[in-house]
Amino acid sequence: MLSPGAELSSESDKSADGSTDPSIEHDDISISTSPVLPHVDASEIGPANLSLSGVTKRFPLGRNDTVLALDDISLDIAPGEFVALLGPSGCGKSTVLRLLCGLEEPTGGDVRIRGCHPSELVADHRLGVAFQDHALLPWATVADNVALPFKVAGQPVDNDRVRSLLELVGIAEFAKARPKQLSGGMRQRVSIARALALRPEVLLLDEPFGALDAVTRRRMNLELQDIWSTDQITTVLVTHSVEEAVFLADRVVVMTGRPGRIQTIRTPGFERPRSPELLRSPEFHELVDELTIALDEEPA
Ligand SMILES: Nc1ncnc2c1ncn2[C@@H]1O[C@H](COP(=O)(O)OP(=O)(O)OP(=O)(O)O)[C@@H](O)[C@H]1O
Ligand SMILES: [Mg+2]
Repeated sequence: MLSPGAELSSESDKSADGSTDPSIEHDDISISTSPVLPHVDASEIGPANLSLSGVTKRFPLGRNDTVLALDDISLDIAPGEFVALLGPSGCGKSTVLRLLCGLEEPTGGDVRIRGCHPSELVADHRLGVAFQDHALLPWATVADNVALPFKVAGQPVDNDRVRSLLELVGIAEFAKARPKQLSGGMRQRVSIARALALRPEVLLLDEPFGALDAVTRRRMNLELQDIWSTDQITTVLVTHSVEEAVFLADRVVVMTGRPGRIQTIRTPGFERPRSPELLRSPEFHELVDELTIALDEEPA
């Protein structure tokens, strides 16, 4: 899958020092920015556990000021668990994901995946990430974008896998299109397919369905549930949809407004696999209402 570092380089084609990276060739997306690594089959390893212990994150703001984005976040996520993060805009949800994939370091506390620094999983390409800005390579076809993680990992492209992922997210007929020829929602689906390419142990999704219409979003929710239950990927989903969080997650974590703290955690204990009928059940609506009220509450 695309490692977060590679995702950054795909956004701008710039290397860390700001220069254009000559190892990225636009025409055939031949990429040699990371060493060739032995292929690690996630099924041999099993899903990873994640832990945030007393995590704070402070960002510089202007010349002499700082902003406290996260305050004392502690959360243990079990192997194969599906956790949804809800919270008001600016409360630090994306920051939590960026810490979990090693793109940010905590100011205080500790972030571990399988007991290691996240960068170790990133280096092994065992972490799948689909962020708010999908960061697709604009010059590459949809299929090449989904195949990118294989190239970044120095592995032969598994064309069958690429094809089946495109089918899974419903854009197989656009395999040869360029991202600019797709709608925003379709681009997000390419980004999800790309995140799944190397069968990650950990899947981090930041509002992956934000640009989708309600019908497609529900279909994608069902598909994500299928993917998660088949591959048992430890998943953290950031969403603004309470319904989506309750439908998909084992645990829903509600964060307070800035500084982001954990306000409450609920465990939707609905049987799996969850079907669209659940969306119409009183138990479902009760929990959605409870969480919506929690979201509206001002922190003490
Ligand atoms: N690189 C950065 N530099 C400075 N401040 C930052 C940086 N990244 C995030 N912040 C600040 O941290 C806070 C949390 O941001 P974050 O993007 O994590 O929020 P969010 O919960 O994902 O919001 P949204 O729902 O709008 O996506 C915000 O106040 C934001 O301004
Ligand atoms: Mg965000």
